[in-house]
Amino acid sequence: MSFPHHRPRRLRTTPAMRRLTAEYRLDPAELILPAFIREGLTEPSPITSMPGVVQHNTDSLKRAAAEAVRLGVGGIMLFGVPETRDAAGSASLDPVGVLNQAIRDVRAEVGDDLVVMSDVCLDEFTDHGHCGVLAADGTVDNDATLEIYGRMAVAQAEAGAHVLGPSGMMDGQVAVIRQALDDAGHQGTSIVAYAAKYASAFYGPFREAVDSQLQGDRRTYQMDPANRREAMLEVELDLEEGADMIMVKPAMSYLDILADVAAASPVPVAAYQISGEYAMIEAAAANGWIDRRRSIEESVLSIKRAGANMILTYWASELAGWLRA
Ligand code: PBG
Repeated sequence: MSFPHHRPRRLRTTPAMRRLTAEYRLDPAELILPAFIREGLTEPSPITSMPGVVQHNTDSLKRAAAEAVRLGVGGIMLFGVPETRDAAGSASLDPVGVLNQAIRDVRAEVGDDLVVMSDVCLDEFTDHGHCGVLAADGTVDNDATLEIYGRMAVAQAEAGAHVLGPSGMMDGQVAVIRQALDDAGHQGTSIVAYAAKYASAFYGPFREAVDSQLQGDRRTYQMDPANRREAMLEVELDLEEGADMIMVKPAMSYLDILADVAAASPVPVAAYQISGEYAMIEAAAANGWIDRRRSIEESVLSIKRAGANMILTYWASELAGWLRA
């Protein structure tokens, strides 16, 4: 009987040994907190399918941003929920509309201490809930939508966003937004491109978070979950178009895509742990079926291990607090 000389268990013997030999560890600076602000709220409003997450009013959003700074979180990604919607999503262009005002308020609160990011997409602003405007035949009109994205981007840059996050998956969106920003003198505003964004069932709770009006699905513009190679095409196009960073979304069901993208990307890679991923862990933990804190830490660590440089997660501040303790 012979025994192997290499016995990996030797490196697992004590907490100190495991800490020393850990290949990856999380850092608050790489976490980004997604946050919702809803117009006209006097109090923050809980989101039923995302226990612990709220639709903010101005005050609570500013407090959440200040807390994120205190905890060393790297960034905040803002989503706005307007009071009125129309077919063209015109509230998105209003300089004092809910999202643009939120950007201004958060910048006033945190200055440059937190990277302020904002969603460039029409789904929160349209009465039909699609990420773009519709053509006469009811399909999403790519190029008419791009024209609006360009103007939205300029409004958000003017409000003070450091980074814009086009999430609508229209072809050519990064190029149009880059051009519009440059033409308006915003050469310094960055773009994190949702390059590989899949048509996922796990966005369910987000639809509640933004009171989405969507009937149907987004399969004509978001990627097919069956496709892996195609993610590299989306990434290449976004890089050619001027993306400063790229994103893979969702995270947990797409760790293979994230690993592919991370291996090939010359720019920082973000991954978005989305609403349904959050909801599943919270729901199972609430039932006592899994350990909440360990599951959160393990899930976010898996995203880091797969290659993300930045992770959007609704647990960003809570997790940062644990990491600093
Ligand atoms: C679109 C957008 C969505 C999410 C972020 N940006 C929804 C969608 O594509 O249907 C989902 C985020 C989440 O589920 O946490 N503006």
